[in-house]
Amino acid sequence: MSYPDHGKYEWLPILYDMVSELKPKKIVEFGPGSGCTTIAMAKALDENNIDGHIKSYDIWDDKYWGSRGVTQAEYDAWSVSNYITLEQLDFYSWVKNGCENFDFLYFDINNTAEKIENLYDVVKNQIKNGSVVFFEGGSKERDLHGHNGGGMYEIKDKLGYKILTGNVKYSASAIYNTEIYNLDFS
Ligand SMILES: C[S@@+](CC[C@H](N)C(=O)[O-])C[C@H]1O[C@@H](n2cnc3c(N)ncnc32)[C@H](O)[C@@H]1O
Repeated sequence: MSYPDHGKYEWLPILYDMVSELKPKKIVEFGPGSGCTTIAMAKALDENNIDGHIKSYDIWDDKYWGSRGVTQAEYDAWSVSNYITLEQLDFYSWVKNGCENFDFLYFDINNTAEKIENLYDVVKNQIKNGSVVFFEGGSKERDLHGHNGGGMYEIKDKLGYKILTGNVKYSASAIYNTEIYNLDFS
């Protein structure tokens, strides 16, 4: 199990384990930023001989997150570029163009309740059919720290998401069909 030390996301091992267990062929990621989360997923594919690929999309809206070139250089440095196609694409353009199919989706675009709900609305049929969504946030504590207000926890039952971490700021959650999966990664 190898990936960069994120410094904040202590749940990267859960992301790694989930990809290792689910063996997704097609992963879509929104918000790689500088690339830690993509590398964790790509290493899970590589180290478990999974025949999967990651389409990773970002708009690099803040220079804190670098640029496409800087993120790509991180993938190269970790020898995982073969597993990843990195593109500049806005989540809302993806929605407008009808969304693409995926087995596993990682979502991390400065998440708010509104963005998670928007995502859920456009992928709920895929989730019903077995696709899994993993997103940053979801805990009560996280709602106290979001840039754009809280409210994620209030839609927990409506969306049926499961919090994968403790009640901490840097939390992570997943939405999946519980009639298909019995996932426990905590
Ligand atoms: C919190 S960072 C992601 C952190 C990253 N996953 C990591 O491993 O540290 C959020 C990222 O979402 C991107 N982003 C924000 N809005 C977006 C949108 N509408 N579509 C695609 N990416 C977006 C930002 O440019 C930024 O790189």
